[in-house]
Formats: sequence, structure tokens, C-alpha cells
Amino acid sequence: MRILILGGCGFIGSHVVDELIASGHEVVVFDRYPERFRSPLPDVQFCQADFGNRGELEEVLAGGIDVVIHLVSSTAPQSSNDDPIFDVQTNLVESIALFEMCIKHHVRKVVFISSGGTVYGVPQASPVPETHPTLPLCSYGITKLAIENYLHLFHLLHGLEYVVLRVSNPYGTRQDPHRKQGAAAVFMYKILKGERINVWGDGSIVRDFVHVSDVARACLAAAESQYVGMCNVGSGTGLSIKQLIVALQEVTGKKANVNWLESRNFDVPEIVLDCSRIERELSWRPQTSLQNGLVDMQNWMITNIKSTKL
Ligand SMILES: NC(=O)c1ccc[n+]([C@@H]2O[C@H](COP(=O)([O-])OP(=O)(O)OC[C@H]3O[C@@H](n4cnc5c(N)ncnc54)[C@H](O)[C@@H]3O)[C@@H](O)[C@H]2O)c1
Repeated sequence: MRILILGGCGFIGSHVVDELIASGHEVVVFDRYPERFRSPLPDVQFCQADFGNRGELEEVLAGGIDVVIHLVSSTAPQSSNDDPIFDVQTNLVESIALFEMCIKHHVRKVVFISSGGTVYGVPQASPVPETHPTLPLCSYGITKLAIENYLHLFHLLHGLEYVVLRVSNPYGTRQDPHRKQGAAAVFMYKILKGERINVWGDGSIVRDFVHVSDVARACLAAAESQYVGMCNVGSGTGLSIKQLIVALQEVTGKKANVNWLESRNFDVPEIVLDCSRIERELSWRPQTSLQNGLVDMQNWMITNIKSTKL
């Protein structure tokens, strides 16, 4: 298949590219920046443009695309409440414009990466199934949910196939440790450098860390399948921030220096995803253990710290 990856130069996107190439697909990447941590891959067609540049996007779609994997996001959970209008305009409005172009250019399917960590709000159960009520605490989650709903609408109105993947907390190689999102990478980098790490609250909040290669395999399975609908993507196992720090100390062999801060009102106390639906519908299960994933990330970070002075 000829598959377009929007945001294919980012953390998750770069792994999706690898997975699709390894499976023999033709890959087109649309991103405003080249990949940060490696040189352009020879087998990938790259279009450098902004998601809001509808002319460029339409030109790529007019070239013939079977499946679009939509990974662009202009906001993060923490920052999205600062400017919800920006969040809606750059993510929701442009995603609707994309779906209209997909209909016009006969794209079969859209795979959209949503957020298992934010769309449910404060969980009333654990693990959280897809049928759980949705009440996000941040604009990012509201916008993700609205995009999901528009995909469903476009399926009903125009027959556009879709899979929404509600991803939990991905971690792994090529995760930029200088970003605000991604506790595992940020903490590991700081522990390796001997810097203090900031923890909001007492470290008891629980998250569901899933390795990025497993997320990429879920994207591939969603693109290749006939399935239409929405699935959680996580490890299905909860890990508190304190437990994450212990695991990072074990892997790095270094002691973490923690700066304990006031808890934040948009951090839900616990979120662990029930991933039985994706196992049933797409035969997907996470394969990388936390231990192996952290060791892999450490090796990558050490190489990059030396070579690029991160
Ligand atoms: N990383 C996480 O913790 C996490 C968790 C759940 C869901 N997600 C979602 O997964 C997707 C990918 O996340 P990621 O962690 O790989 O992020 P990332 O920032 O590493 O990658 C996003 C890519 O999109 C590109 N991009 C952003 N805005 C653009 C624009 N206006 N035009 C063109 N390109 C643009 C960026 O250049 C980047 O390469 C996002 O939709 C994100 O919301 C991420």
C-alpha cells in the first residue's frame, strides 16, 4: 500500500515509518521538520510543509494514497489549556479539512492517534475500557475526542474507514528528553546527566507505559486490517512514578535526585488501559518489556549524548 504518515518525523512517526518499510509498504512522510535524530531514509518520500498548508497536503493526497496515518499534534496536554482556540484551530479544524480531502482523493482509511491518557478524564475503573465515559481535563483531550467523533461521522456520511488508537504513555528511542511530555525519557536523561528531576505530587500517580515499537506495530495492524473503530493501546499494566524512578535507577545504575513539587490539577491519579479490544480485533499485544525498553532507550541516549551533545 501507499501510506502517508502525517507527523512521520516525530518520535512515534519515525518508528511507524520503520515498521511500514519493513512490511514492504510505500511510505510518504508529511512533516514540517526533518527527523531530528537520524538522516533522511532513502526509501521514504518526504514532503516538508505545515499541516495547515492545505495546498501542499492536497497535492500529496492527489498523488494517490491508500491509507493516512495522522500523528500531527500542535499541542501537548500540559500546554493545551493555555490557548484552547489555537488547539481547536490547528488540530481539529485542520483534521476536518484533511478528512474532506481524503474523501475527494479516495483515501480508503485514516488511522488517527488519539490519547488514552487524556480522553477518559478521571477513571472510574481500572483498567479503563473503551466504553468508559469520556470527560477530559484538558483541551488536548477534548480536541482528540472531537477528531475521533468527526472520523466516525465521515465514516457514516462518506464511508471513510478509520481506526482510532487511544495510546497511553509511549516511551523509547528517539523520544526527545527535552520535551515536557514523556516522563520516562525526561527522567532517564536527567538521571544519566546527574541532574534533578521534577516530580509533581508524591510520585503515587500511576501511568501505563507502552514501548514505542509496540505502538508502531499497532499502527501497522490498523492500516492493514479491515477493522473500523477505536481501540486502546497500552501495556495494560500500571506503574507509579515512584516505581518508574526505581526502574530507571536499576537500569542506569545511578541514583535519581528528585525535586518534589505540588501536584497539578490536570494530572489524573491513575490511568491504565484495558487493551483486550485491540487484542481481539487486531491480534495486537505489547511485546517489549519495560526492562528491555528502558535498556534500549538508555543505549540510544548514551550514543546520542556523545554524538550530538543533547
Ligand atoms: N508522546 C506521547 O506521550 C503521546 C501519547 C498519546 C498520543 N500521542 C499522540 O501521538 C502523536 C505523535 O506524538 P509524538 O510523541 O510522536 O509527537 P512528536 O512531536 O514527536 O511528533 C509529531 C510530529 O508532528 C510534526 N508536526 C507537528 N505539528 C505540525 C504541523 N502543524 N505541520 C506539520 N507537521 C507537524 C512535528 O514536526 C513532529 O515531527 C500526536 O498526535 C500525539 O498527540 C502522543
